[in-house]
Amino acid sequence: MDTKAPFIDSLSLPAIAAPMFLISGPQLVISCCKQGIVGTFPALNQRTSEGFEEWLIEIKEALEKFEQETGRKPAPFGVNLIVHPTNPRLEADLKLCIKHSVPLIITSLGAVSKVVDAVHSYGGLVFHDIIKKRHAQKAAEAGVDGLILVAAGAGGHAGTLNPMTLVAEVRKFFKKTLILSGCISTGRDIASALQMGADLAYMGTRFINTTESKAPEDYKKMIIESGASDIVYTAAISGVHANFLAASLQAAGIRQEDLTKDHKVDFGKELDTEAKAWKTIWSAGQGVATIEDVLPVEELVALLRKEFLEALEDQTKILKKYS
Ligand SMILES: Cc1cc2nc3c(=O)[nH]c(=O)nc-3n(C[C@H](O)[C@H](O)[C@H](O)COP(=O)(O)O)c2cc1C
Repeated sequence: MDTKAPFIDSLSLPAIAAPMFLISGPQLVISCCKQGIVGTFPALNQRTSEGFEEWLIEIKEALEKFEQETGRKPAPFGVNLIVHPTNPRLEADLKLCIKHSVPLIITSLGAVSKVVDAVHSYGGLVFHDIIKKRHAQKAAEAGVDGLILVAAGAGGHAGTLNPMTLVAEVRKFFKKTLILSGCISTGRDIASALQMGADLAYMGTRFINTTESKAPEDYKKMIIESGASDIVYTAAISGVHANFLAASLQAAGIRQEDLTKDHKVDFGKELDTEAKAWKTIWSAGQGVATIEDVLPVEELVALLRKEFLEALEDQTKILKKYS
């Protein structure tokens, strides 16, 4: 069925706070869902499956309490799973997602119909992130409910394609939910994503600079002080191309010539090494250019909504002018 994710209509803003390694935890997720946008986190942000389950319980209980107290339905939350043979936790973490009926599963690397079927069995949805058309086609064949298109300039493992092209190219064959990722930092950016043909905006870097994120204060400060040209795209840190803050590379003593060395990451053996790298070398997208503060999620979502509605009003003026 070519249907859009039903929860979209109940959101206060068409946005997902994207899962971020070492950054997103229960506090951020709970605050986002309370404010009506989807909150997410990577299962691997907890060092064990037991710890992961504790977080699932904490989030579910907080959101149930919120609903009882306010009578308002929070937005659904999501978990990011790395679907790769070198992730030894995949099976155990997936079982916990099924046990706790996690509403949204975001798969990275592998789009596998077995995972999709397992999530559909309890009524959950699967969104899969891609950086190119070929991966999008494979994920569509596996039956995913949504595709997250990670465009150039995004934080984390970014793509290289222009967002307009990527959305248009994938939209030709994928009629379900399209989510655009990369440099979406303001409400106007969210409106632009929808203009391009996406159904939802996927925002990472902007949510690093919230009170609820687990990022250290210096990381947040560096984001405020950085511009788009202070973002370095390299495979040298992670084995996969990702965007990093130049000032954090400098602070770690990494020279330009070090950035040419690629190495592959094994999610099983090297998670600790990877965590050490991402702890000192900080990832962010080119969207840092418009981030000038650290806000509590409640204030950030209110601001994004205001900017989003203003942008739509401007669109109406343009419509009037040209019709
Ligand atoms: C610090 C950081 C860590 C990230 N870790 C993950 C991750 O563990 N899993 C994942 O699917 N995406 C991860 N991402 C990518 C985000 O989910 C999202 O695609 C991206 O941040 C969107 O681009 P933006 O940062 O320009 O908004 C990470 C991004 C950042 C900035």
